[in-house]
Amino acid sequence: MPPASSFRQYTYYASWFLRSKLGMKHPLVNTMIIHYACNLRCQHCAISSSTEDIPKEGSTMSFDAASREMRAEYEKGAKILFFEGGEPTIWRDGDKGLGDLIAEGRRIGYYVIGYTTNGTGRIFEESDVLSISLDGPREVHDRIRGPGVYDKLMANLEMTDHPNIFANMVVMRPNLDKVRETAEVVKANPRIRGLMLNFLTPPPYDISLTLEEKAQVVNEALQLRKEKLPILNTERALKELLIEDYSKKCPYWVSSFTLPDGSKHYGCPMQGTESCKHCGFDAVREYRLILAGNVQTITRMSRRFALSTR
Ligand SMILES: C[S@@+](CC[C@H](N)C(=O)[O-])C[C@H]1O[C@@H](n2cnc3c(N)ncnc32)[C@H](O)[C@@H]1O
Ligand code: SF4
Repeated sequence: MPPASSFRQYTYYASWFLRSKLGMKHPLVNTMIIHYACNLRCQHCAISSSTEDIPKEGSTMSFDAASREMRAEYEKGAKILFFEGGEPTIWRDGDKGLGDLIAEGRRIGYYVIGYTTNGTGRIFEESDVLSISLDGPREVHDRIRGPGVYDKLMANLEMTDHPNIFANMVVMRPNLDKVRETAEVVKANPRIRGLMLNFLTPPPYDISLTLEEKAQVVNEALQLRKEKLPILNTERALKELLIEDYSKKCPYWVSSFTLPDGSKHYGCPMQGTESCKHCGFDAVREYRLILAGNVQTITRMSRRFALSTR
């Protein structure tokens, strides 16, 4: 299918916004967790720490199942597709890999396709958006993610001129005092457009931050923005990261989640759990602000994530 024009994309987003105001709420984003497998075992990752408990059967989505689910969510109204894992770049089904899933999403008609990655695998240039995980400068990133991971990520970035790569940092005890340095790494790297800050969503609880520590990070991030360091979170969303229990405010329905076994969550898979009360995910704050009509959030986030770059 040829890419939708920017006009068509904006018109669709505007109608989605208006319909949601009238109570007709349906997901705009389809998040596909295509498998749980990963080549790393990061300190903070709830998925990697529980992979032994996940039955092998149903831990990887087949290409056909993924295609079916992508089409079903598209027909229900989702127009933004994100692949997640585990590590999406190492997903395989026979001779098919992530590039085939992206191509299939494009054929179906999704406006924007992206994926989140630890950056150790190849870069899929055909994706509109790449979210790479960066949890600190070299030493701290590698302490959290494993030896050599930082250099591998940076070497892979050297090989691309993709126009829409941003970094995602989870702020937690091991990198609490590294936000400025991480923002400086991003600023110095012409391939990364900005840094999105999130807090850890526990588990694990032992490395998550207290509210006072989170407030320090938010103040620091606001200061970094003033100094023109490339923090992507909007000011309002940063402040909303300090609302302790976001579960009542969370517009969880904005994204559908499909898990590797084909099960679906209309809304976050964490919804209703203890973790949900301690959610540190910035995007849900940005979603809420978009739905509240916050102009700054609408313009900033749509520039980054809502228009096809292909
Ligand atoms: C689950 S990973 C999957 C994609 C890829 N493997 C990666 O590391 O980017 C997606 C994002 O979730 C973050 N993440 C993992 N565990 C988390 C937790 N407990 N709280 C908040 N974010 C977490 C990772 O740092 C990463 O940025
Ligand atoms: S690379 Fe991603 S999925 Fe793998 S352990 Fe780290 S955070 Fe988890």
